[in-house]
Amino acid sequence: MSRALLIAQISDPHLKAGGKFSYGVVDTLSALQRMVAHLNASLPRPDIVVVSGDLVDFGRADEYAVLAPVLGQLAMPFYLVPGNHDDREQMLAAFGGQSCLPVISGTLDWVEDAWPVRLIGLDSTIPGAHGGQVSDAQLEWLDQRLGERPDTPTVLILHHPPFITGIGHMDREPFVNAAALERVVAGHPQVERLLCGHLHRPIQRRFGGSLVNVCPGTSHQIVLDLQEDAPAHFGLEPAGYLLHSWHPQQGLVTHAGVIGNYPGPYPFYDDQGLID
Ligand SMILES: [Fe+2]
Ligand SMILES: [Fe+2]
Repeated sequence: MSRALLIAQISDPHLKAGGKFSYGVVDTLSALQRMVAHLNASLPRPDIVVVSGDLVDFGRADEYAVLAPVLGQLAMPFYLVPGNHDDREQMLAAFGGQSCLPVISGTLDWVEDAWPVRLIGLDSTIPGAHGGQVSDAQLEWLDQRLGERPDTPTVLILHHPPFITGIGHMDREPFVNAAALERVVAGHPQVERLLCGHLHRPIQRRFGGSLVNVCPGTSHQIVLDLQEDAPAHFGLEPAGYLLHSWHPQQGLVTHAGVIGNYPGPYPFYDDQGLID
């Protein structure tokens, strides 16, 4: 492959039905539409989009019915994992068995081998709870899948970051068995990344010899406040996404982008050289 494979990651669209705004103030539908338009217009255009959970706000069928046609506007294949705001059964009813969610029952774990980077989706949700986990059965499944293709660069996509972030209100329900997941990842050095959401802001941490990238939200962002008693607040900082670029010689390089109109671009140089 001469050019890079571009994997765009978006997260936490939290779509609602009936034109409702999330928490009364966030127009999540327009935000996702802007993101889809941005990705479609990007040059070079991403080859794949992965959506790292909290697809809708209350896991309702009418919310997935709003989501499906918006994602259907993407000009490239996309892949889904659930978040704590999703509902497995409703998500299966909307997308199960399709290329974006190649499972039809159970936990929503899947493998996609169609690309130079192997994609593994993990369902880190606990029905009815805010926090995350991957069960022993899922870990065994993951270990087996990773053992199948040890030489193929692989990314894991799961909603919940498996570590304490320092944003207190999001850490109150920590990832249940993060240490067990870390041991599995450590046994398979082809795991280039774990791609997560849930925190609605960009965060990085090493994990089992690999790296976790947490993606910004497509609409609202969680306030960066590391005080122990930080309130559960969000804000409307610029929405963002991650662009993971894979090249066999360069490895997996991750860029963070934002959505919106800002001044520029301006040149550094004119015909006299660096502009004074
Ligand atoms: Fe979320
Ligand atoms: Fe979440």
